[in-house]
Amino acid sequence: MGYNIAIDGPAGAGKSTIAKKIAKKKGYIYVDTGAMYRAMALFLIREHIKPEETERINEKCKEADISIGYENGEQVVYLNGENVNGYIRTEEVGNMASASSPNPNVRAKLVELQQKLAADADVVMDGRDIGTCVLPDAQVKVYLTADSRVRAERRYKELLAKGENCDLEVIEKDIIERDHQDMTREISPLMQAEDAVLVDSSYLTIDEVVDKIIGLCGD
Ligand code: DC
Repeated sequence: MGYNIAIDGPAGAGKSTIAKKIAKKKGYIYVDTGAMYRAMALFLIREHIKPEETERINEKCKEADISIGYENGEQVVYLNGENVNGYIRTEEVGNMASASSPNPNVRAKLVELQQKLAADADVVMDGRDIGTCVLPDAQVKVYLTADSRVRAERRYKELLAKGENCDLEVIEKDIIERDHQDMTREISPLMQAEDAVLVDSSYLTIDEVVDKIIGLCGD
């Protein structure tokens, strides 16, 4: 088994920014599992499936082949062979990912892919259930969180920078709703693993969080 660092937490806590930096500093592979759920959501949207159509999701998801690769040091997600990185970072896809990710067939498929990736490599993997379910034996587990308002402000700035029209109140409402959906679902809900270290990033800089987590690796 490689050295595995698992980072879980709600949307907007800074997981991907921090996981990427840790991976770079330690020379590990960064695995963004949310991107896999987003690619699956994009597939379902393209199939004109609605978030509430759970039976159709259960069947159709079998037709999506999701894999990942690395181009110029960045993770690329492929959906049936197509690089879909440019399509998965929208609110629509995020909401569909949250709605479809509780589906057992969706999870079984993506968890298997994630476990294979971590089996022989040193990885920093982020998501919702990495410490609790995907990599229960990870050497380092972190539950990274922040205030919902702080997280909404971060998303707001990101979207503004991309030139997307958005409203802070709506984003915060979406974040709270998504947290609720992710934390109350039956299968692999978002929660802190018993042996995970809680890190609140609300009033820490990115580098402070990175150093704190690297400090947990004990080398
Ligand atoms: O981290 P993100 O916003 O890209 O994730 C999108 C959705 O995917 C999120 O609402 C919950 C789901 N997800 C999950 O269920 N399990 C994971 N390991 C990662 C993401």
